[in-house]
Amino acid sequence: MSNYHIKHLEEYYQVYRKSIREPENFWEEVAEEHFMWRKKWDNVLSWDFSKPEIKWFEGAELNITENCIDRHLATRGDKTAILFEPNSPDEPSEHITYNQLHKRVNKFANVLKQQGIKKGDRVCIYVPMIPELAISVLACARIGAIHSVVFAGFSSTALATRINDSDCKMVITADGSYRGAKTIDLKGIVDDALEQCPDVKTVLVAKRIHSDIKMKEGRDQWLQPLLDAAPDECKAEIMDAEDPLFILYTSGSTGKPKGMVHTTAGYMVYTAYTFKNVFQYRENDVYWCTADIGWITGHSYIVYGPLANGATTVMFEGVPSYPDFGRFWQIVEKHNVNQFYTAPTAIRALAKQGVELVEKYDLSSLKVLGSVGEPINEEAWHWYNDVVGKNKSPIVDSWWQTETGGIMITPIPFVTPTKPTYATLPFIGIQPALLDESGEELKGNQVEGRLCIKFPWPSIARTIWGNHERYKETYFSAYENKYFTGDGAMRDEVGYYRITGRVDDVIIVSGHNLGTAPIEDAINEHPAVAESAIVGFPHDIKGSALYGYITLTNPGESRDHNNLRKEINQLISDRIGPIAKLDKIQFTQGLPKTRSGKIMRRILRKIASKDTSNLGDTSTLLNPEVVQDIMDNAL
Ligand code: WTA
Repeated sequence: MSNYHIKHLEEYYQVYRKSIREPENFWEEVAEEHFMWRKKWDNVLSWDFSKPEIKWFEGAELNITENCIDRHLATRGDKTAILFEPNSPDEPSEHITYNQLHKRVNKFANVLKQQGIKKGDRVCIYVPMIPELAISVLACARIGAIHSVVFAGFSSTALATRINDSDCKMVITADGSYRGAKTIDLKGIVDDALEQCPDVKTVLVAKRIHSDIKMKEGRDQWLQPLLDAAPDECKAEIMDAEDPLFILYTSGSTGKPKGMVHTTAGYMVYTAYTFKNVFQYRENDVYWCTADIGWITGHSYIVYGPLANGATTVMFEGVPSYPDFGRFWQIVEKHNVNQFYTAPTAIRALAKQGVELVEKYDLSSLKVLGSVGEPINEEAWHWYNDVVGKNKSPIVDSWWQTETGGIMITPIPFVTPTKPTYATLPFIGIQPALLDESGEELKGNQVEGRLCIKFPWPSIARTIWGNHERYKETYFSAYENKYFTGDGAMRDEVGYYRITGRVDDVIIVSGHNLGTAPIEDAINEHPAVAESAIVGFPHDIKGSALYGYITLTNPGESRDHNNLRKEINQLISDRIGPIAKLDKIQFTQGLPKTRSGKIMRRILRKIASKDTSNLGDTSTLLNPEVVQDIMDNAL
C-alpha cells in the first residue's frame, strides 16, 4: 500500500525515509494505485544528471485527461470540477461539473483536430482567466498537442518571441479581458504579435468582452460556433510517459526566456500527490489557488493536480482590489473555500488595507492557507496566520519553481509544525542539499548555502525547448551531479529550510520572475541610452522592485529626465509587459565595472537597497570613481 495521504508527523518521516531509500518502489506504488494507465511502465526511473537525461515510468502509456476527467465521471460526474468566479461580483459564478467539463474538453479537442492540430504540434494559449483557458489546456492534452500558455499580461513582443521559439501553429485567444475596472484588448496584442509570426495559420477567438474586433480572413475564427458544431466525444490520444505535455516559459538571468518542457506521466503523478498532501484535500472541499494559469502554479495547482484528485478548483478571473480589497474574502465566504493558496505580494497588499475588510466576511470555512512565489516576510506571515487564519489554519509556505513542476519544500498542514518564513521540510522524495561556493556540500544543521537537489523527482522539467545545451548549462553545470535551483537557503537547528532568495540575476517582482538581461536589452533600444544595469531593491508590497542605472549616449545634452524615464518604461512595457517597469531610474555617469568588463551588480544592489556602510571589495574595479558619484545621486 502506498501512503497517498499523510496524516501524522511520524508517518511523514517514515514515508520520507522510504521515498529516499527506495525511490523507485515508492513512486511505483503511488503510480500504480492512484492513476489510470493504458499500459504500465517497463522501468520506473533512469537518470543521468551529467547528460542530463531523466525518464520516469518509461514504456507506460496514458492520457492525462482520462486521469483528470474521465475516470471521475462514474462517481463524481455531477460534482463541480471548475468553479468559475468572474471579474465582476455582479456576474453569476459558473459551476462546471465533471460531466460538463468532459463534454467541453472533448468538443474543444475535436475543434483542434478539425483545424489540423495533431499530436506533438505546439499550440499557444493566450487567454485570460476564463473557463476556456483551462478547457483549451485540457483539450490540447486530450489530443497530445503540446500547450504553451503565455500569461495574458505579456506584451505582443514577448508573445511573439514565445510563439516563434516553439514554432506554434495555432494561437487561442479571446476578444479581450477584464481586469478590475479595465478591459484589455487581447486580440489587438495577438494581431501585433502575429506580424512577426508567419507560421501561425489559425487563431481561435473566445468571446469574453464582446468588443468590436477585427478578424483576419482565413486566419481568425470565432471559437463558439466551432464548438457548437463539434461532436461531444473525442478519443484520448494515447501518450508515452515521456511525451511532452507542455512548454512553459520562464525568465533566465540572460538571453531569451527558457521554454521549460514538462512530460506526461511523472508530472501527473507528482502534481497529484503533492496536491493531495500539501493541501490535505478531502472530498467535497472547495480549493482555491489565486494564481493565473499562465504561470506554473496555475498549471499544476489549478488545473492538473486538483483535477487528478477529482477536486473542486476555483478559477478567479479578477484582481484582489476590485471592486474593493475585500474581494478575496468575499469569494472565500461565497464559496466556502477550504484551501486558499496565494502569493506573498497579494498578502502584503491586503494587509495594508487593515482588518475591517477581512472581518466583514465569514472565513470559518478556511482550513489551510498556502503561500508561494517568493519568500514570505515575517510580518506578512503573521498577518496571514492571525487575521486570515485566526490562528487555526496552518500556513503552507511552499517552495518550488517552474522547472520543478511541483511543490518541493513545504510543511504538510496539521502534520509539520510551521515556523514563520520557513518552508520547513522537503516533500516526500525530495533530496535537497546546500552547497558552498566551492561546491562542497554543507552537512549538518545551521548552515546556509546554495540550494541544490541531489536526486530526480517525477516532475522535474526534462529540457529547454530547442536548447538542451542551455538546460544542462543552467541547471546541471554549477555543481556536479546536482540540479542547481538558483536560490539560496539556510537550514536551521532542526533541519527546517528557509529560502533566502535568488542568487542569480533573476529578480522576483510581485511574484513574477524577471531576468535582468531582457529588461536591459529593452532599455538599450532607446536611442538616448548607452548602457544600463537593473537590480532589485526591497519594496513593501512587491517584495522586490526594479532599480535601473542608466548611462546616456550624450550625457552633456540637456534633456527632460522625467520624460526620458516615461519613454524608457514605455519601451519596457512594449517589449516585455507592464510587470517589468522600473520603479526608480537613476541616470549615471558610468557603471562600476571589473577589469574584465563585467558590471559589478553587487555594489549597485547595495546602493539601491540603501545599504552602503560596507560595499565590500572594490579593488578590482576599473573605475572606482563612479561609485561615489552613484551614491551621491542615489534615489
Ligand atoms: C521563488 C513559482 C521563497 C524562488 C512556483 C524560486 C520562493 C522562484 C517560494 C520560482 C517560497 C517560489 N519561498 N521563494 N515559498 N516559492 N519562490 O518559476 O526564488 O515562477 O526559484 O515558480 O520563486 O518561481 P516560478
